[in-house]
Amino acid sequence: MDSSESNAAVWKSNEVVAQWVATVDERERARTWPRRVLAELLPFAEEEVFTFVDLGAGTGAASCAILDRYPSSTAVLADYSPQMIEEGRRALKPYQGRYRYVVIDLATGSWPPELDGGLDAVVSSLCVHHLPDDRKSALFREIFDRLRPGAWYFNYDPVKGEDVVVDDVWQRVQDRRDPEVAKRRAHRTPEESARWENHVRHISPLSPQLASLRAAGFEAIDAYWKELDHVIMGGRRPAG
Ligand SMILES: C[S@@+](CC[C@H](N)C(=O)[O-])C[C@H]1O[C@@H](n2cnc3c(N)ncnc32)[C@H](O)[C@@H]1O
Repeated sequence: MDSSESNAAVWKSNEVVAQWVATVDERERARTWPRRVLAELLPFAEEEVFTFVDLGAGTGAASCAILDRYPSSTAVLADYSPQMIEEGRRALKPYQGRYRYVVIDLATGSWPPELDGGLDAVVSSLCVHHLPDDRKSALFREIFDRLRPGAWYFNYDPVKGEDVVVDDVWQRVQDRRDPEVAKRRAHRTPEESARWENHVRHISPLSPQLASLRAAGFEAIDAYWKELDHVIMGGRRPAG
């Protein structure tokens, strides 16, 4: 199995998704602020009508933050896991009429025709790190080509330290904040270890990803928010 097949096997597994959904609230409690920042970074007025695309949307945590912040917005949630989409439809009941799912495999470069171009905004959260670096770069170009001029892309994702000492510092701080996580790390089951390997396999440092955004044509590129190993990076397609 290559890495994209094993990633698909994880996200299209009933057991993994059931376990992921059972523990999502606990993880989301620590993400309230970056979710809000991601929404705030979008340059829309409170009541503006626009549609955004959420790539690797899963059950829609990023989309919900944006839909809440902009009550006239509409979401297109793109994912390839039938299980995550089914769970998402359940979670998104309060947003009926303001969202739809489309199926996309971000590992392939093949996009559904309805996302061909003119997009008002694209976001992704906790998904792009599942792609190898050459696919991340290609994906940034594909997003750039589909945004309307002047529109933004933001990606909330984990990054790797550019120096192993940096990774150690991030880990130490996280372990102090949540000693339970440190304990669980030391006693992973084989299934948990396999899932962890899938999680970290393609996590890459920040600066090459910012360089890839630049190479794709984006301007105003920055890590607009960062805490330890998590960042919100992004940029704008030039208006002209
Ligand atoms: C950790 S979850 C994050 C979900 C959501 N974005 C969030 O922030 O909670 C990763 C999501 O990425 C999706 N995903 C992973 N690889 C993908 C791929 N190659 N194409 C499309 N979706 C993918 C998974 O199905 C899953 O829903």
